[in-house]
Amino acid sequence: MSEKNNGSQGISFLTPCRVITSFLILFLLVGIGAAAWAVVTFLIKQEETGLYDVQVNSVDQRLSVFDRMQGRWRSVCSSSSNELLANISCEEMGFVRALNHSVYSILNGINNSEDFFCVGVEELTYGKKFRELLFPCNCDSGLILRVQCQDCGRRSLTEDRIVGGLDARQGSWPWQVSLQYDGVHQCGGSIISDRWIVSAAHCFPERYRHVARWRVLLGSIYKAHTHSSVHTAEVQTVVFHSSYLPFVDPNVDDNSRDIAVLALTSRLQFTEYIQPVCLPTYGQRLIDGQMGTVTGWGNTEYYGQPSDVLQEASVPIISDAVCNAADYYDNQITTSMFCAGYEKGGTDACQGDSGGPFVSEDSLSKASRYRLLGVVSWGTGCAMAKKPGVYTKVSRFLPWISSAMRTFENVPGVHKMSRT
Ligand SMILES: *[C@@H]1O[C@H](CO)[C@@H](O)[C@H](O)[C@H]1NC(C)=O
Ligand SMILES: *[C@@H]1O[C@H](CO)[C@@H](O)[C@H](O)[C@H]1NC(C)=O
Ligand SMILES: *[C@@H]1O[C@H](CO)[C@@H](O)[C@H](O)[C@H]1NC(C)=O
Repeated sequence: MSEKNNGSQGISFLTPCRVITSFLILFLLVGIGAAAWAVVTFLIKQEETGLYDVQVNSVDQRLSVFDRMQGRWRSVCSSSSNELLANISCEEMGFVRALNHSVYSILNGINNSEDFFCVGVEELTYGKKFRELLFPCNCDSGLILRVQCQDCGRRSLTEDRIVGGLDARQGSWPWQVSLQYDGVHQCGGSIISDRWIVSAAHCFPERYRHVARWRVLLGSIYKAHTHSSVHTAEVQTVVFHSSYLPFVDPNVDDNSRDIAVLALTSRLQFTEYIQPVCLPTYGQRLIDGQMGTVTGWGNTEYYGQPSDVLQEASVPIISDAVCNAADYYDNQITTSMFCAGYEKGGTDACQGDSGGPFVSEDSLSKASRYRLLGVVSWGTGCAMAKKPGVYTKVSRFLPWISSAMRTFENVPGVHKMSRT
């Protein structure tokens, strides 16, 4: 291994040892290059689709899932658990529930360019990403699953109808409801299905736990029954998060897990004024600076009067790092909350808006939809500089919401439920 043997030629550096080393280095570089290339193309592919990895085709309603390894979409092959899979996939996409599903034979038109996923049905459960249980297969049966999920997050009033007059904004936030106790507005809430409303746990302290005294006002931009589109519903069930600590110990400073769901006594008829909002998709991340809209009938100033007409405010999401700074909320923002507002204040949610929606529009499911990213939770004052509104991060509670809806579907009364 010495260089001396070749030394006579003076410039021969390629001794066997060096050759091997060079090859090793070369291999290493090629390896790193290939890995980097793979990562880059993976990221590009992900960005290219711009879509959530699970989709329902709008034409034939087939369920398809993106194969990240191969960069292509695959239809999901029928299995013995189609109903469960339909339910879970609609939930994972933020559509909350499946309306129907069916099996579709593609044997006649089979096509070499078709790709399939089969599902490991034993491990299929609610609250988990089902796409982790999928594996590529040939789908020999030629039967694929089609599902129809509940539509959501769309305003059915067209823009030109939302112009001028008192009715102008009637129907622009059709998932917004007013939660009223003994006829008095207490909190906001958001319709997520024909049966369920999402709100905040702090709207249900002990003195507000007689379920029969709650009413939900739907389809109105006023807090009263002023318009033919308005509907009042009775509440059958309230479920709040049992780890919302201010209910456990009033002195505690942690407002995490400020979330609740309500079931109505009868199913809603959706109209252009009464529509559900979508939930986030499983794993959806919030983007700092992303704009959202908060709506409610809360005070227009901290010491002011509640508003008679629904108010809306457009505010950007603030990063946890900024919002936890000493001059902001000094580490009171936990991983299950987020802040939104402007550094200088001026635009914010306030008392009376509690439990109401913070929504943002996206195209993760192709069509543009509004998703409920946050629930109005707390804040210091209203619209003060460096004291933005703080929201419950709904994406952290998707399994909790799903479980509460299934567990308490037919259990009237007020209940608390812990993390699943
Ligand atoms: C699917 O969801 C519906 C309600 O949307 C429910 O009645 C049904 O039992 C669910 N099926 C399964 C297999 O979980
Ligand atoms: C074959 O696959 C292509 C691409 O997915 C599709 O456009 C075409 O309609 C398919 N043909 C049949 C007969 O299914
Ligand atoms: C669901 O039902 C509707 C109306 O009954 C039907 O048109 C649609 O094709 C069904 N969707 C699926 C996926 O079976």
